[in-house]
Amino acid sequence: MTNGYLFREYIGAQFTGVRFTDVPVNTGVSFHFILAFAIDYLASQQSKPTPTNGVFRPFWDTGNLTPAAMAATKAAHPNLSIMVSLGGDTVQNTGVNATYAPTSVDSWVANAVSSLSTMITQYGLDGVDVDYEHFGTDVDTFVEGIGRLLTQLKARFPNIRTSIAPYEHPVNQKYYQPLWRKYSGVIDYVNFQFYGYGANTNVEYYMQFYNEQARNYPGSGGSKLLASFKTGDVTGLLSPDQGISAAKELQRQGKLPGIFIFSADSSKKSPYGFKYETQAQQIVANH
Ligand SMILES: *[C@@H]1O[C@H](CO)[C@@H](O)[C@H](O)[C@H]1NC(C)=O
Ligand SMILES: *[C@@H]1O[C@H](CO)[C@@H](O)[C@H](O)[C@H]1NC(C)=O
Repeated sequence: MTNGYLFREYIGAQFTGVRFTDVPVNTGVSFHFILAFAIDYLASQQSKPTPTNGVFRPFWDTGNLTPAAMAATKAAHPNLSIMVSLGGDTVQNTGVNATYAPTSVDSWVANAVSSLSTMITQYGLDGVDVDYEHFGTDVDTFVEGIGRLLTQLKARFPNIRTSIAPYEHPVNQKYYQPLWRKYSGVIDYVNFQFYGYGANTNVEYYMQFYNEQARNYPGSGGSKLLASFKTGDVTGLLSPDQGISAAKELQRQGKLPGIFIFSADSSKKSPYGFKYETQAQQIVANH
């Protein structure tokens, strides 16, 4: 059990015009932007997006979050890294699920390693997060596809950081827990989506949920299992204030490796702006 200096935030999925320079960066933390999302789908004006069997393309707000903007924000902040998240809920404004749908493990992994290696090199990326939320295959095909992808990317790019982003739902847990059991050696963090819990999630409940997920992802508690909350519309869900209070309590108990927020896009258009990004970073910076 140990406290850490990590702060992460998803950016780019909701097209609110958010830029890297909008988000306050505390120099006392390790700061990770997570581009949301790269998806193995092909979108076209004419027809519904279709799966590409592991050939990933950027679906984040590439108009604002450009390679030049990435290079500039990294140059401005020595402790800032930029990751890319794979999957997400739907394919950018289309309502089509971003489904994990390989035609075979071998072909999907080969395409994914190749397309993501190109993306990592082109954008100077520092890591990969796995956030598929819809599954078109059996559990084994997910475990092997993702596990081998992360293994091969780590072999090619030894310094990248990897994470998975499960949430509390029987189907989701059915896919992510076996992935963790077999491949936790190549997974650096669990970005557990605690903001999927309800509005009644007070500090006591949050601690129970944290401990439960630490058991679901054995060995992650206090070292790899990050606290989280979301900004923007949280109707019926855990609020940012509840997330901040819970993070302080985890830290008091010596088990806050870091915090992540979803998302910079939501904060940008919210009345409170980036106040929770500032608060969360103060917590991890001052442990
Ligand atoms: C931030 O970067 C500086 C300079 O590279 C380094 O000395 C410091 O340890 C870093 N802090 C964190 C929290 O990573
Ligand atoms: C998207 O996936 C969810 C389950 O993950 C399913 O309930 C829903 O019907 C799917 N939507 C479409 C349009 O396929």
